[in-house]
Formats: sequence, structure tokens, C-alpha cells
Amino acid sequence: MAERIPASLEEKFRKRLSFYQDIGIELYYRDRAPTRPQQAAPQVRTISIEEPTLPQPVQKSQLAKPTVAPPAVVPPRSSGVSVFGSMNKIAGDSLPKILSDIGDCTRCKLHRGRTKLVFGDGNPKADLVFVGEGPGRDEDMQGLPFVGRAGKLLTQMIEAMGLQRKDVYICNVVKCRPPENRTPEKDEVEICSPFLLRQLDTIAPKVIVCLGSVAAQTVLQTNRGISHFRGEWQDFRGRKLMATYHPAYLLRNPSAKGEVWKDLQKVMAVLGLQVKKGASAGPAPSTGKSS
Ligand code: URA
Repeated sequence: MAERIPASLEEKFRKRLSFYQDIGIELYYRDRAPTRPQQAAPQVRTISIEEPTLPQPVQKSQLAKPTVAPPAVVPPRSSGVSVFGSMNKIAGDSLPKILSDIGDCTRCKLHRGRTKLVFGDGNPKADLVFVGEGPGRDEDMQGLPFVGRAGKLLTQMIEAMGLQRKDVYICNVVKCRPPENRTPEKDEVEICSPFLLRQLDTIAPKVIVCLGSVAAQTVLQTNRGISHFRGEWQDFRGRKLMATYHPAYLLRNPSAKGEVWKDLQKVMAVLGLQVKKGASAGPAPSTGKSS
């Protein structure tokens, strides 16, 4: 008679499966176990929920004709199991559904310090999506992305492009504020980024702008430094992606605004937006001091 998996393990396993469901993975196969010598006594069947021994999710498309995902010009992450990289677009997905799937999230440790979850904001049918790293203090208080100092600069950049915030969509890699605004950790990014991917697939913008290295490295699944590919068009699941510096970096290094403005002008050209005379990515760096 088959023995039960211990209840605590079953609960962990159930949570993990429900997480996979949230991100649209419903088909699994079990790794072929190495042949073991027959045991005399019946064995308790154990399933490790830790990767890499966790049964690996497979997409339906992997069972059908293999498709070659157009790689970004940057190489894939060299380590780690990435659910993000293997997800397909979920039919009938929507931003409200993604938000509801996130729910009152406790999937990673960032929920402990959260005041408000910051899902994203803007036009759900935007041609242009900006992706940042994660909420800061102001965002955590208000539940909205990019509303602090860096956000004000981003707003100026958007307006310099001839757009308004309500025309674009703004979101982050992680939806909860990392303590002391530290960089989100690998496990936090891996747990949260599938929801970002669903947002991007659902909005289906013409152009994605990744602000800073965490956003760019996560979306493109690369470890390469952003300076190697900033300002150059990348392919992301058939969409155009531009990585540029984070507005918080520009606050510390105003002289880099010119580079960012050049990147945004490339975006404007693709979106058919006119460059206004004298426009720039935020106030000119006249004093060299951050504002
Ligand atoms: N920085 C980010 O990356 N995202 C925000 O929402 C705010 C600041």
C-alpha cells in the first residue's frame, strides 16, 4: 500500500504547485530516478521540493514542435533554474487576473516589510512599458510605482517624450519593497518575475524599456552588465526592448542623462513620436550635483 507523504512536505509541495499554476504552468514530468537496488521493506515515498530534484515543469509547446525562442543578443543566465525563461503566454490572461493570483502574497521574504504591494500602474494597453527594479519607500507607502524622487525624474522623461504617465505602463521586477531599498535577491526575483512576465505578455507593448541592470538582467535573463548592451535594441519574445540607466542612477550621475535621452529618442522613433526641440531626459545637469 502506498504510504503518504509527510503532511508538512505535502503542504510545501501543494504551495509550490499552486505557485506554478499562478504562473501558468500546469504540466509536469518527473525526473527519471536512477535505478536503485530493490529494498526489502516498503519505502516511504519522498519528494524533494527543492530544485533541482523538483519535478521540472514543461510547457505544452515543448511537447509539440520545438520553437527556438529568439535569444537576446546577450547570453542566458549561467546558473539557476529559471521559470521565467520557460513560460509561455497564458491565454486569456489579464492584469486583474495576475493581481488576483498574486493576492496577499507571502511567497518570498519581502512581504514581511511590505506596507503596500506595488503591482504596476498606467495604461493596460500601452505601447510602451517601463520596468524598474522594485518599490522604494514612497512606492511602498502609496502602492504605486515610481512616485518618489526617481519617479519624478521618470515622469519628466516620459513627458519629454511627448507622453504622459497615463499613456504608458510602469511596473517593477519585484512587487514589494526590499529592506533599506537593497537590491532584490535572486530568490525574490525568481519568485516574483513570472508575474512581471505575465504583465508584459498581457499588455503586449511595442516597446519595453528596462530601467537599470536588475530589470534588464531579469527580463533578458543575463548576467551581463547593462553597460554592455544599454542603448542597443534587444529582442524580448518578439518585442523590442531597450535597456537604459535607472532614474535613481541619473539622480546620482546627472551627466548620464544625455545617454538616456539618446536611448529614449530611439524608442520615440519606433513609436513614431516627434522629438520636441530642446527636450531632454529631465533637467540639464548644470551643477553636476544630484537634485
Ligand atoms: N525604483 C524602482 O525601481 N521602482 C520604483 O517603483 C521606484 C523606484
